[in-house]
Amino acid sequence: MRRCTPVVAMWGLMALMVLADASKLNVPKILLPFSRGNKINFTLEVTEGCYKWSSTRPDVATVQPIYVNDKPCSQKAVVKACATHPMRLASIIFAEDIFTGQLLRCDVIVDIINDIQVVSTTRELYLEDSPLKLKIQAFDSEGNTFSTMAGLAFEWTVVKDAELDGFSDSQNMLRVLKFSESAYVPPAYITEMERTAQQGDIILVRSRREYVWYKPVFEGLVVPLCLQWRFQEITPAEVRLLILENILLNPASDIYLLVGSSIHYKVQKMKQGKLTE
Ligand SMILES: *[C@@H]1O[C@H](CO)[C@@H](O)[C@H](O)[C@H]1NC(C)=O
Repeated sequence: MRRCTPVVAMWGLMALMVLADASKLNVPKILLPFSRGNKINFTLEVTEGCYKWSSTRPDVATVQPIYVNDKPCSQKAVVKACATHPMRLASIIFAEDIFTGQLLRCDVIVDIINDIQVVSTTRELYLEDSPLKLKIQAFDSEGNTFSTMAGLAFEWTVVKDAELDGFSDSQNMLRVLKFSESAYVPPAYITEMERTAQQGDIILVRSRREYVWYKPVFEGLVVPLCLQWRFQEITPAEVRLLILENILLNPASDIYLLVGSSIHYKVQKMKQGKLTE
């Protein structure tokens, strides 16, 4: 028999009130990377109610409720991959509403990373531009995307581009930037990793200001560069970035001319945050 304190009775009433639109879990399936050192985690969350959590294979994935206000149940729980063998393993996480008995389910698969790629919103970086965010996406042997890379350490380096003979110091044109050195907010785990001098799955890169300062020679420059990182036995992936000089045409809009007429264009450059001609 369950004790029925006024507090529990009140929760029960609230649970009945929300029963009409049933509670939902944030994801149906997650794919977590197998990792020897770090226990990679993912937070499950239900929209309403109060749940008890369990894992059918705690040796593959554990589930830890995040309790608030001394409640005996929770809306959130942290799933951690804890498989000790590098192979594809699965567990089912159940969340049971302690009042209504509603059962929600999330399948957790733990597998090894087979391939990594860098994703970004652009591959072009202007001199003296705002930094560019690069993020790692990882895939299993079937090409499925891992749900998170949070907490895994990567080593990002700017490497010399073999195809680029002319610019022997192309490495110096790009710099991996810490979030703490920038004006941008990273996820909390990145801040934590930066504090211990680690690089995570998300970094910023920017063209080197000091380089531009001493060698203003790159008119209409296009310099491809590579970034590379190593992680366990995975083949390092590369991303090629184009560094362009920030030249603006003024007027910038389309202009229609009569045959035989001409227009004077101004070519402007961004330099130390100012426009020069
Ligand atoms: C989950 O992983 C992140 C990233 O490594 C870490 O900062 C956080 O403390 C972990 N949470 C738990 C509950 O282990």
